[in-house]
Amino acid sequence: MNREDYIGIFDSGIGGLTVFKSIMDKMPDEKLIYFGDTAHVPYGTKSHKQIRAYAMQDVKFLTQFNLKALVIACNTADSVASQTLKENFDLPIFGVIEPASKKAALMTENGRIGVMATAATCKSGSYQEMIHKYNPKAKVFPLACPLLVPLVEDGRFKKDDKVVQLILTEYLDSLKEHDVDTIVLGCTHYPLLEDAIKSLVPDINVISSSEAAAEHLSHGLIEMSLDSQGTKSEYRYYVSDDPEHFKENAGTFMGKPLEEEVLLVNDSDL
Ligand code: DGL
Repeated sequence: MNREDYIGIFDSGIGGLTVFKSIMDKMPDEKLIYFGDTAHVPYGTKSHKQIRAYAMQDVKFLTQFNLKALVIACNTADSVASQTLKENFDLPIFGVIEPASKKAALMTENGRIGVMATAATCKSGSYQEMIHKYNPKAKVFPLACPLLVPLVEDGRFKKDDKVVQLILTEYLDSLKEHDVDTIVLGCTHYPLLEDAIKSLVPDINVISSSEAAAEHLSHGLIEMSLDSQGTKSEYRYYVSDDPEHFKENAGTFMGKPLEEEVLLVNDSDL
């Protein structure tokens, strides 16, 4: 593993680009390769066994490249498959759950934390476990928000959008009942809803798992002396289905259109 090698980043689909973008912004000299498993998205409604099998395939694909680190950008995959991946791949593996949990655990003042995530992430108990690692007394309230991924994928995330407000209000009301003072956005898509959420609950801390993951990765690479030292950045994108659709929609997640090519990975290469 060298400083000039790639950081491999994978997700169930397009949402992991929020993590990719946070990493690009924080570490502009790094070479990044993204794999989105668009043929099998969403992971959040699948069984743990199936999610683990997909995650193994995703990482096998990425390990064809010279990687210095791997980032599990998908909260669902990190919740369910991170142990399996660590047992099978000899590579520094970074996730999203631990950094976001640590931030929430240290930020809460009343010890009551809400976690918005997919059904599979909530069911795994991963956020509860990680938050308790850093704050054993915290009370964690996971909330599955199945309407949010399709909403964001449809380009609906602006704070003045009435449908966004309606759906978020219902979810946030149930967290407010638990008197949380901190909410973790525990899914790749939710950071796009951050402004809308903050406008509805201005007194609650809102933590983006994507941003927390990029901060954690940056510290980790520096600690291992694996951070790039002025190498020219490079960005590569691969998907398992419909590269055109990915390219068209990437702008929503990246804040600007994607210039690079998006390449299709055939099933036989996975
Ligand atoms: N990437 C997933 C996550 O962060 C959301 C989409 C899905 O369900 O696959 O949990």
